[in-house]
Amino acid sequence: MKIAVIGTGHMGAPIARALSEAGCAVSVYNRTAAKAEALAAACPGMTVAASAAEAAAGADMVVLAVKPHLILDVMHLVLPAAPQAAIVSLAPGITLERLAAEGAARVLRLMPNVAIACGEGMSFICHSADAAADASALAGFLAPTGRVAVVEERLFEPAMAVASCGIAYALRYVRAAVEGAVALGIAPADATAYVAQTLRGTAAMLLQPGAPHPEALVDSVTTPGGSTIRGLMAMEQAGFSHAVAAGLLACVSK
Ligand SMILES: NC(=O)c1ccc[n+]([C@@H]2O[C@H](COP(=O)([O-])OP(=O)(O)OC[C@H]3O[C@@H](n4cnc5c(N)ncnc54)[C@H](OP(=O)(O)O)[C@@H]3O)[C@@H](O)[C@H]2O)c1
Repeated sequence: MKIAVIGTGHMGAPIARALSEAGCAVSVYNRTAAKAEALAAACPGMTVAASAAEAAAGADMVVLAVKPHLILDVMHLVLPAAPQAAIVSLAPGITLERLAAEGAARVLRLMPNVAIACGEGMSFICHSADAAADASALAGFLAPTGRVAVVEERLFEPAMAVASCGIAYALRYVRAAVEGAVALGIAPADATAYVAQTLRGTAAMLLQPGAPHPEALVDSVTTPGGSTIRGLMAMEQAGFSHAVAAGLLACVSK
């Protein structure tokens, strides 16, 4: 499949790399050419175009990985060069209906998170009714970047809150846990490693086939009358669960 990636920043670069490694013929264009050239130099077979239209010419799929306020402008540049291409937008807040109104053959939205760069991403795809095959192909190409879920569009922004913005929320937990650890006498660098590895272990347990319910795992580390329950109760008294849920709700509210 021939795929153009317009914008090779934090998101576009790892996506282009993954598509190239999946065997797609990838052509990239970035406003600052040096960034696209450095990426292509590290990805055998990837080509650098001199314009968005040149990258998109004859493409089966065009990934628009520019900032949201530029998406529609860039889409207008690529559509005449690739009128039959499926258009993939990374912009939050721009609906499939809005994208389709610009005249694309088929439209998809892709929401990765920054962890795609280390192969542990959580990405979501939603698509117009006629783009199911494109969505399935894209999900397959991106599988090595982590987990990829195809969801209904109504769940797209909530999923973004949980998994894309969620990286920032998880990092705030890390900050809080490191602060607490430092107050207990652990050096910050050690505390960061201990907290990160603890999160990795927690995620590994939750993601194994047949994993128990998260609360069953909590029970398994909570001895009645012991120290874990005292910590949990103090956290809940300070509003921990409510604060996290309220943050997610605020994230998707207009
Ligand atoms: N970062 C995240 O966690 C995240 C997660 C999910 C979705 N997204 C979405 O992904 C999209 C890209 O975000 P990002 O974080 O990758 O942004 P980014 O790092 O700023 O990358 C955007 C890239 O687009 C290039 N660009 C700007 N205008 C262009 C144009 N007219 N033609 C071609 N390239 C152009 C920029 O080039 P220069 O080198 O000249 O600046 C830059 O390399 C956004 O819509 C964002 O909302 C981001």
